[in-house]
Amino acid sequence: MNVDVLSAITARHCKRAYMDRPVPMALLQDVLAAAAHAPSTRNTQLWQVAVVTGAARTRLAARLCADFDADEPVRPDYVNRPPVLDPPYLARAEAAGVGVLKARGIERGDAQARRAHLRDNYRFYGAPVVMILHVPANAASGTFLEIGCFLQNIMLGLVACGLGSCPQYSVAGYSARIRAELGMSADRLIVCSLAVGYPDPQAPVNAFVPERASLAEYTRWYE
Ligand SMILES: Cc1cc2nc3c(=O)[nH]c(=O)nc-3n(C[C@H](O)[C@H](O)[C@H](O)COP(=O)(O)O)c2cc1C
Repeated sequence: MNVDVLSAITARHCKRAYMDRPVPMALLQDVLAAAAHAPSTRNTQLWQVAVVTGAARTRLAARLCADFDADEPVRPDYVNRPPVLDPPYLARAEAAGVGVLKARGIERGDAQARRAHLRDNYRFYGAPVVMILHVPANAASGTFLEIGCFLQNIMLGLVACGLGSCPQYSVAGYSARIRAELGMSADRLIVCSLAVGYPDPQAPVNAFVPERASLAEYTRWYE
């Protein structure tokens, strides 16, 4: 058994505060090249990724924050969860939400601070690198499964390099803005962004790890 792989998988958790430290482009290239070894139906590799850094990242964050501040309605290109969450799933979602807010010292009733936390998504939690993952607009359900494999490979590769990340569906809510900013045509579907950088080890929010269901809750064995 390769314990390193399992350790990387369990070590990966979302990082929501980053150090002001540049990420070498060669490292990102290595991670992305390795990530593309993800499986895909008939090896189609329909995923694509825009790597946004420097002035382009600053501009994109500013535009998205302006949209958020102007209460622009979000219009994601796809739905990311069932319309109704059954009790165990809802309880997990609520616990994760409460945990992040608590780790950031935000009271549940503090609407202003909660909004500021939500807004932080649109500046990629201060990460110096943002990856935008996108697929063809005619993507099938299976395409999302495949880009999910690619995304997880990226996140694990980043862990191996001492980097942290946070996938963000919230940012994909402003998909038209992203396409316009990055010069993408309408035939690209924005899946999510991925904030990437060196995690701030001092930030309490980075120590928060939502609980996992026990093995027995999601596994049934047949012989
Ligand atoms: C596709 C996807 C979209 C997500 N979108 C957001 C987001 O917009 N903002 C955020 O802070 N976290 C986001 N998350 C992170 C989840 O909240 C997180 O993975 C979950 O609570 C489990 O925590 P962990 O990854 O730290 O173990 C997203 C995760 C995934 C897989």
